Amino acid sequence: MSDLVQLTTDNGIAIITINNPPVNALSPGVPEGIAESIEKINQDPSIQAAVLIGGGRTFIAGADIKEFGKITSGKNAGTLDLPTVLLRIEDSRKPVVMAIHGTAFGGGLEVAMAGHYRVATPGAQVGQPEVKLGIIPGAAGTQRLPRLAGIAAAVEMCAGGNPIKTEEAAKLGIVDRLIEGDLLKGAIAFAREIAGKSAPKTRDRNEKLGTPEQNAPIFAAARDAARKKQRGMMAPQAAIEAVEAATKQSFEEGCKTERELFMDCLFSDQSKAMIHVFFGDREVAKIPDIPKETQLIPVNRAAVVGAGTMGGGITMVFANAGIPVLMKETDQAALDRGMNNIRKNYETSVKRGRFTQQFVDERLKLITPTLTYDGFENADMVTEAAFEGMALKKQIFGELDRVCKPGAILASNTSTLNIDEIASATSRPQNVIGTHYFSPANVMRLLEIVRGKATSKEVIATCMNLSKKLGKVGVLVGNCRGFVGNRMFHPYVRESVFLVEEGASVEAVDSALYDFGMAMGPLAVGDLAGLDVGWRIRKEYRHLEKPGIRVAMAGDNLCEMGRYGQKTGAGWYKYDENRRATNDPEVATLVKKWATEAGIKQRQISPEEIVDRCVYALVNEGARILEEGYALRAVDIDIIYINGYGFPVYRGGPMWYADAVGLKKVYDRVREFEQQHGELWEPAPLLKQLAEQGKTFADFNKQHTATA
Ligand code: 3HC
Repeated sequence: MSDLVQLTTDNGIAIITINNPPVNALSPGVPEGIAESIEKINQDPSIQAAVLIGGGRTFIAGADIKEFGKITSGKNAGTLDLPTVLLRIEDSRKPVVMAIHGTAFGGGLEVAMAGHYRVATPGAQVGQPEVKLGIIPGAAGTQRLPRLAGIAAAVEMCAGGNPIKTEEAAKLGIVDRLIEGDLLKGAIAFAREIAGKSAPKTRDRNEKLGTPEQNAPIFAAARDAARKKQRGMMAPQAAIEAVEAATKQSFEEGCKTERELFMDCLFSDQSKAMIHVFFGDREVAKIPDIPKETQLIPVNRAAVVGAGTMGGGITMVFANAGIPVLMKETDQAALDRGMNNIRKNYETSVKRGRFTQQFVDERLKLITPTLTYDGFENADMVTEAAFEGMALKKQIFGELDRVCKPGAILASNTSTLNIDEIASATSRPQNVIGTHYFSPANVMRLLEIVRGKATSKEVIATCMNLSKKLGKVGVLVGNCRGFVGNRMFHPYVRESVFLVEEGASVEAVDSALYDFGMAMGPLAVGDLAGLDVGWRIRKEYRHLEKPGIRVAMAGDNLCEMGRYGQKTGAGWYKYDENRRATNDPEVATLVKKWATEAGIKQRQISPEEIVDRCVYALVNEGARILEEGYALRAVDIDIIYINGYGFPVYRGGPMWYADAVGLKKVYDRVREFEQQHGELWEPAPLLKQLAEQGKTFADFNKQHTATA
């Protein structure tokens, strides 16, 4: 018997325990161990029924995701095939009770559904999250779940991928009984109750499969919702098709259909990209020179300087995590405005069902607005979110240095300024760090954590750890201008403006990138964020521009006309009072005039060129950042772009995308652009090197782990 599965007995009840920490994934050896246990139980006349349970903190969290890469690369033909093991469980003459705690996800729920009964602890979770990995359930989940929960719930769970609590699972019929207290004891007692009675096989239960008339609108609505909410992804549509097969085919045929769809998804570029993102989400938390055991600084009280859009959002982030937080402004009117915005924001969340009124009331009690630094001496962490200006930031950090207790973390939300210079205003640069939130701070998942020269390991480890508690994905970056995200965004936006100046319409540029999968086109993003933001920064840094290098002018010219974007009713687009955009023919006329005056030739530009120009501009800058060590690994850049810049998850992030296209191809295209457009397109040395060696950015990960 495999070490991963133990078989014991308790007075006629067999107990099968899966012990494959940390999440009891169905790694090679686990399905085999389960199959062997079932066989033994059926041969042992003293056994009346069995309980299958997960050791440690959870039931089975699914197939072992690491194995998928081995299968698609041909290194593993697949372990004993899971659907067959599940049939053996279901065919067992002794009834099997599945005891669920923690998470029964993916293959875990599929195992559970092959049992004859399911009991669970309240508050545990069950789900078919496969679509989040670009695949669909592959062990009859799309066939057994509708038989237990009905079509509507099965479609939602398989196509949406979100888990449900066991309380709801009990209502739906997935779970037969909730057990308070000791789960194993309760499950054994349950097994004694049902021992000797007929054991229902899920695959024979057809009563919830509905009629074609009932089902057609469910499938149509699900397909429509998936097209909108999971735009561009193939797995959700495949999951719906597989559940539909359960309503039209026998169980056996439905399983075959599911397997074909599963394999199509598994071998797709989308699933490879999404699996990369799954592991990337976890990889970014690992900092090579900061050991796991690094002492963390407890953050039980926080303070925020600034009650503007970012300050208010960051205050909410702390409050939402249950951490009491002071929010400081310099004058009463600004403070009141900040608090009102927070209240309004929470009201909207209640209206949309994101939070309950009670949750919001409790969070508001955690926020203390203030005009002074009183109370800052108790804060474990202070986040400065004042206007972007070095003099002001240094003044604030000087004051924080005076009022804060020794050891308090002093963080700046700067998006561009030098953390070391900010830290120099204090006597404790080791406690100073950048925590760069993305707007709206209470919604966007990304948190760039900027490491200064002197920032201590404890402070970095605490911020990385805290980001998870705050509901963020923290990515450690080095201290360069624009850090990682904005530094790459600059050439991306620059190319989008160049393309318009060269004759592409504003809509053509935005829709090419939207169709590529970006959440929004770059020009629409500019209008949303305010074109004046970049314009002001560019004016400040104009002296750093190299003479003779082309500068994107159209956006700045629009600002000179007062067209700042949504907030002024016009930018690249025109906006009505509800901020709905329409195309503005005046922009096309103006840009054409400016381009002609500047001697820029107008031409037809294809969507492919638009995508290559903008996305390869991201990649080329990303390669420089990686080589310079401002990002630890290519995957860190990918996670930043997916969580902070609307890059499509199913393309795996810009660096993964470039690897998938092939770096030789990307490099050749960059060289072509260099010949056409000049030195702004000079290929990054790392891109050139890897392309020539036939390597990928992912290969570079394994060799370099230094940060700036
Ligand atoms: N396979 C392999 N490794 C897994 C895994 C899995 N299914 N689930 C988690 N892990 C690993 C993580 O990579 C992480 O490794 P690390 O410590 O080396 O970074 C470790 O287990 C702990 O995971 P988390 O950090 O995510 O732990 P949490 O406690 O925060 O979350 C969880 C636990 C909710 C189970 C979460 O890990 C999760 O959602 N896992 C994925 C579940 C999933 O997608 N299951 C479906 C798999 S596909 C499938 O089953 C196909 C089937 O239909 C045939």
